[in-house]
Amino acid sequence: MKTGLVYFSYEGNCAFVAEQINAVVHGDVLALKLEDGKERKGLAKYVWGGRQVLQNQRPALKPYTFDGAAYDLIIIGTPVWAGSPAPAMETFLEQTRITGKKATLFCCCAGGKGRVFDKLKKSLAGNTFAGEIAFINPLKQDAGALAAEVRAWVEGVLG
Ligand SMILES: Cc1cc2nc3c(=O)[nH]c(=O)nc-3n(C[C@H](O)[C@H](O)[C@H](O)COP(=O)(O)O)c2cc1C
Repeated sequence: MKTGLVYFSYEGNCAFVAEQINAVVHGDVLALKLEDGKERKGLAKYVWGGRQVLQNQRPALKPYTFDGAAYDLIIIGTPVWAGSPAPAMETFLEQTRITGKKATLFCCCAGGKGRVFDKLKKSLAGNTFAGEIAFINPLKQDAGALAAEVRAWVEGVLG
């Protein structure tokens, strides 16, 4: 099974989980990057990111190539921002045709996944879904335990 893994990560958590997942699936990995590479911290970061969600913004991404048709399984990962996928992921899903695939979703959050999976599924209509998982602050967890959790989950999804 050929796997494409696409994620956005602003602060490294989803990147860390993606790395762990790909250690099992050995797929092609696309890390989405914002065109605006400015680093925001503290309150300014939450205001900026929260506004993107509330205003339904689609922030520009750095150029990438991704051929959804090339994969059997597509894994999508995003941080939870204001209970939603990070808008950068929605930009990708609007720009990129992915249909008729098996899709698997993961998110990273500080406490709650909110409506992130419902929204991703809406944006990925036309695909079938095989598993979703939320990780709470993965970078703060024991790396070995997290790797074991990821492996068990991925192996369950792959069947
Ligand atoms: C703008 C913004 C909004 C956030 N909103 C939520 C939220 O609604 N619920 C939550 O549990 N965590 C929220 N978080 C925390 C992130 O989801 C969490 O830190 C996640 O692990 C970050 O993933 P990343 O390191 O891959 O960017 C928010 C973070 C940011 C920057």
